[in-house]
Amino acid sequence: MTNWMELEQKYFMHTIERVPLTIVKGQGARVWDEEGREYLDFVGGWAVNSLGHCPPVVTKAISEQAHLLIQASNQFYTIPQIRLAELLVQNSCLDKVFFSNSGAEANEGAIKLARRYGQLHLGGAYEVITTLGSFHGRTLAMVAATGQAKFQKAYPPLPSGFVNVEYNSIDAIKSATTDKTCAVMVEPIQGEGGVNVPDDSYLAAIKAWCDQKGILLILDEVQTGIGRTGTLFAYEQYGVEPDIMTLAKGLASGVPIGAILAKERVAVFAPGEHGSTLGGNPLACAAGYATVKFIIDNDIPAKVKAVGQYLIAGLEGFKQKFPFVTDVRGRGLLVAMEFNSDIAQSLVMACLERGLLVNRVKPNALRFIPPLIIGNKEVDEALGVLDKALAGVAK
Ligand SMILES: Cc1ncc(COP(=O)(O)O)c(C=O)c1O
Repeated sequence: MTNWMELEQKYFMHTIERVPLTIVKGQGARVWDEEGREYLDFVGGWAVNSLGHCPPVVTKAISEQAHLLIQASNQFYTIPQIRLAELLVQNSCLDKVFFSNSGAEANEGAIKLARRYGQLHLGGAYEVITTLGSFHGRTLAMVAATGQAKFQKAYPPLPSGFVNVEYNSIDAIKSATTDKTCAVMVEPIQGEGGVNVPDDSYLAAIKAWCDQKGILLILDEVQTGIGRTGTLFAYEQYGVEPDIMTLAKGLASGVPIGAILAKERVAVFAPGEHGSTLGGNPLACAAGYATVKFIIDNDIPAKVKAVGQYLIAGLEGFKQKFPFVTDVRGRGLLVAMEFNSDIAQSLVMACLERGLLVNRVKPNALRFIPPLIIGNKEVDEALGVLDKALAGVAK
């Protein structure tokens, strides 16, 4: 049998410590390795496989579109792109859409849009306030936006125009606001930062401040969007409407895509000011349309809310049994369990051995971001494995 891990070592840049598993096939919430061993997947392609692996509505849409038209360039009109844009606008508070290929690229475009808005309407203001512990992507500008030194320290000098302030503190945002500020960009819940859930009033307070100052609120919903937290978009739970919102991960079931959505008055790009060769290509947009339509038509967010509560309740139960479990937090199917020491990696391995895939979001925390289509049965199965894994660590 080919040793894929050895070949990876030889040919691939070592940018991540991978889990020793080669996945060759997926269906629903399950994946299989080369030897046919089955795993329950609570990683979900890092919150991407919203409808599970290879969902029939999406594979059908992809294969039909692949036979019709894969790419035509944005020099021309293409139908899947317009249909997906219409679907997103009709189901959100935003009016205009631009498609990119990833979350980082969507955020990068959102910053460009905010700067352009600043040039036109805010006397040249260009600075964007972001938060410590955030994650906005890996392009140079998004590394500067991301308030985590570990992603920034290897790449000085970073692009200027970003101020990273404490998360969940409206006062920190107020103090950092100057006449150079054009926008505040936050995640409704910080995903990669460890599933950090702010106070319920945080987003509304930011929005009120932005309105008072005439600056823009950009919500990075790359991870929280498309049903992940129990509503189609997380902002719906906080009584706010962003001026700009970005999406990616769960939008097209794994076909690369990103999106910038904006209010009409904020969508100030003129022809030539932004663009992409592959962004919004028919294949990705057909996958996106099939994904989002299924999620809306089947009210997947309501199911996510219920199953998410069931998962959180089950994890909470571990706090009694295993005193080293210090916190359980999250919304919908974006959930973390934290420990009083750095045992997350050994738990990832213990779960792997028992057929469950989980994500180490911090050295001392696991994150659960399974497909949105799981039910209580899969949660029970995962809790059973976690129980054994935690007991093993407790010894
Ligand atoms: C909130 C958030 N924004 C942006 C990104 C970057 O997205 P991508 O990896 O598609 O560039 C991520 C990825 O984890 C994310 O969680």
